[in-house]
Amino acid sequence: MALRRRQLKRLSGGTVGKLWIVAIVLVICTLSLLTSRTRSTATRSEISLEELWGTAPSDGWRPSSAPRSDWLPPPNHSNGYLRVRCNGGLNQQRTAICNAVLSARIMNATLVLPELDANSFWHDDSGFQGIYDVEHFIKTLRYDVRIVESIPDIHKNGKTKKLKGYQLRPPRDAPISWYTTVAMQKMKEHGAIYLTPFSHRLAEEIDNPEYQRLRCRVNYHALRFKPHIMELSNSIVNRLRSQGHFMAIHLRFEMDMLAFAGCFDIFTPEEQKILRKYREENFAPKDTVYSERRAIGKCPLTPEEVAYILRAMGFDHSTRIYLAAGDLFGGERFTKPFRLLFPHVENHSSVDTTGS
Ligand SMILES: *[C@@H]1O[C@H](CO)[C@@H](O)[C@H](O)[C@H]1NC(C)=O
Ligand SMILES: *[C@@H]1O[C@H](CO)[C@@H](O)[C@H](O)[C@H]1NC(C)=O
Ligand SMILES: *[C@@H]1O[C@H](CO)[C@@H](O)[C@H](O)[C@H]1NC(C)=O
Repeated sequence: MALRRRQLKRLSGGTVGKLWIVAIVLVICTLSLLTSRTRSTATRSEISLEELWGTAPSDGWRPSSAPRSDWLPPPNHSNGYLRVRCNGGLNQQRTAICNAVLSARIMNATLVLPELDANSFWHDDSGFQGIYDVEHFIKTLRYDVRIVESIPDIHKNGKTKKLKGYQLRPPRDAPISWYTTVAMQKMKEHGAIYLTPFSHRLAEEIDNPEYQRLRCRVNYHALRFKPHIMELSNSIVNRLRSQGHFMAIHLRFEMDMLAFAGCFDIFTPEEQKILRKYREENFAPKDTVYSERRAIGKCPLTPEEVAYILRAMGFDHSTRIYLAAGDLFGGERFTKPFRLLFPHVENHSSVDTTGS
C-alpha cells in the first residue's frame, strides 16, 4: 500500500512523471485508434449486402394482422357515415387513418375516405386519392369495413339532400365507449358525423387483439402509396444503395416541430417571431417558460449535436447520410456544422435518380 502510494507520488510528482503519464495516454489512444480502425474495416468487409438489405429472420414470429378468431364481415346495415379529418405530419395522419378504420368498425359505420390535412406545414393538397391507392385500400378492407369515396346524396320526397355530417371534436385518446355512446348518438340523429381534428383520437391500448390486428392490416396492407410515389422512392433508395452503405436520418429540426416544442432560445429574433406566430396559429397555448425548454430536455437536438453523437458512436467523416424530410429551420447556420462533420449528405432533391 505504502509502496504504491510512493510510486504514485513519484509518477504524479516531477516533470518526468508527468511526461510518463502523457506518453502512456498517447500509447493507449493510438492503440485503441488502431484497433478500432482494424475492427471497423473488418466488420465492414464481412457485411454481406444481400443480407443487409434482406428481411431479418423472424425467429418463428409470424405476421399478426390476419384475424385469428371469428371475424364477421361488416353488417349489412350501416349506422351511418363516418367522416374524419386527419392532421399533422404524414406519419401521424397515417396512424389517424388506422384509427378511422377501427372507429368505423366499432360503430358499424360506413367510412368516408379520410381527409388529409392540406393546411399544415407540408402545404401538400394531394389528399388521400393523390397519395394512396384507393382501390387497393377499399378492396383490402372489404371484410372489415364498408368504405365510400364520398357520402352519396340522399333522395327523399323528390328532393336531393347533401349529408355533411355533424361536427364533433373527439377527446384525445378517446376510449371505445366514447364511440359507442356520444359519437353513436349523434350519428343516429344526423346520419353522418364529422370528427375533426382526428389525430390521437382513439386510445392506443385497446384490450382486444382483433381490433389491434385490424390496425395492423390497415397500416401494413391496406395503405399503399400510389405507383408514382413508390417508383420515386425506389429509385432514390436504389441509387443510394448502388453507391454503398448509407444512413438515413430524420433530424426533426423543422419549423413545426420546433414551434410545437417551444424551442426558441437558439434562434434569431426574426426566426423566433416566425416560430411564435406558427405556434400561436397551430397549437393550443401552453403555460410554458420557453427559455427553459432546452435545459429540461424538451427540444429536438440541433443538427450539430446529432452529428457529435453519431461521431461518438463511431461513424466517421466518410459516412454517407441521407437526410429525410424537409428543410432544416434556420438554414445554413445549422446545416453547416453538420456538414463539417459529415460532408457526404444527400436529400430527396439532391439524389440524382435519372440514371437508375
Ligand atoms: C347481407 O347481404 C348479402 C348480400 O348483399 C347477403 O348475401 C347476406 O345474406 C346479407 N346478410 C344478412 C344478415 O342479411
Ligand atoms: C355492430 O354489429 C355487430 C354485428 O352485427 C353487433 O354485434 C354490434 O353490437 C354492433 N355494434 C354497434 C355499436 O352497433
Ligand atoms: C437538399 O440539399 C440541397 C443541397 O445539397 C439544398 O440546397 C436543399 O435545400 C436541400 N433540400 C432539403 C429539402 O433539405
